Amino acid sequence: MPDGYIISIMEPRPILITGAAGFIGSHLTDRLLADGQFVVGLDNFCDFYDPAHKRANIQDALNNARFTLAEIDLRDRPAVAELVTSHQPKAVIHLAAMAGVRPSIERPDLYAEVNLNGTVNLLDAVVREKVMPKFLFASSSSVYGNNSKTPFAEADRVDHPISPYAATKKSGELICHSYSHLYQLPITCLRFFTVFGPRQRPDLAIHKFLKLVSQGTPIPMFGDGSTSRDYTFVHDIVGGILKALAHCDGYHIYNLGGDHPVTLKKMIQTIEQVVGKQAKIDAQPMQPGDVDCTWADLTRSKEDLGYAPTTSLEQGITRQWEWIQTTL
Ligand SMILES: NC(=O)c1ccc[n+]([C@@H]2O[C@H](COP(=O)([O-])OP(=O)(O)OC[C@H]3O[C@@H](n4cnc5c(N)ncnc54)[C@H](O)[C@@H]3O)[C@@H](O)[C@H]2O)c1
Repeated sequence: MPDGYIISIMEPRPILITGAAGFIGSHLTDRLLADGQFVVGLDNFCDFYDPAHKRANIQDALNNARFTLAEIDLRDRPAVAELVTSHQPKAVIHLAAMAGVRPSIERPDLYAEVNLNGTVNLLDAVVREKVMPKFLFASSSSVYGNNSKTPFAEADRVDHPISPYAATKKSGELICHSYSHLYQLPITCLRFFTVFGPRQRPDLAIHKFLKLVSQGTPIPMFGDGSTSRDYTFVHDIVGGILKALAHCDGYHIYNLGGDHPVTLKKMIQTIEQVVGKQAKIDAQPMQPGDVDCTWADLTRSKEDLGYAPTTSLEQGITRQWEWIQTTL
């Protein structure tokens, strides 16, 4: 072959995952790479929690030739547009966000900029560049606010968010609807219910409690322990995302929950069993922005997507505890 002869090999169109270095994004990245997909991961490694954790999350992916990392901030419109144009993703799974309810009360401006304007930048890029991928948006159970009816169904009214974070997620669903309507972009919004498992964000209760109980340090318990959450293991969420991707067509909203709401007291007892130590409780009042209960009605996601979570709280906490011990 003569010198300088270039063979052009067309790579298959990749899947763009925003927030790829985060908790859920890194599990999804690993799964898609294991399935043989090409993945472009967008992340700005913001310091909401230690970026070193995020680097560790995607260490394996970085060693895979089918993975490309783009260190880009979603708020950088030209950079987002350039990334979309150059990679022509066949699907976009938009997970990047400022997550967390309580910090959104301190910085509503930042949450609006990233979660809402950042989402607009991404949607704009895919329609202006005429890439027209399947588009999944990570929404949240928090959009239900303090819904008095349980379990929470997608057809319930969600116009009473009780934190800026929840309001940005509901706004994200609305802006997605308008892009789907205007440009016939296939979009599915997925309402995740309290996700846990290995690599869980350090600000979330199960991660914090596993560490504190093992160290014998008191854990802050907000309220009387009767609040409940529909905890969902991260591999079940990833399975639901893949099913939603396969069915992405038109505009839809689905709950992805764990199918078993558990009280805070019961969650702490499970942690005690798994760690083998009794928790010391530091009782605190309920926090503003926190809802009393979450519980996903999975009728629609089971019927339309075939979504079926399989991991119990105890199994999932055991897996998360095994992972935490490797990081201590
Ligand atoms: N973890 C849960 O229980 C849960 C529940 C409901 C919804 N969600 C949603 O799922 C998604 C993923 O959550 P997670 O728990 O994996 O959070 P995470 O913080 O671990 O991941 C989010 C990632 O987005 C990146 N990011 C933040 N701002 C960015 C910006 N301006 N530009 C580019 N990247 C940016 C972060 O660096 C991070 O790696 C979020 O949209 C979150 O709101 C999570």
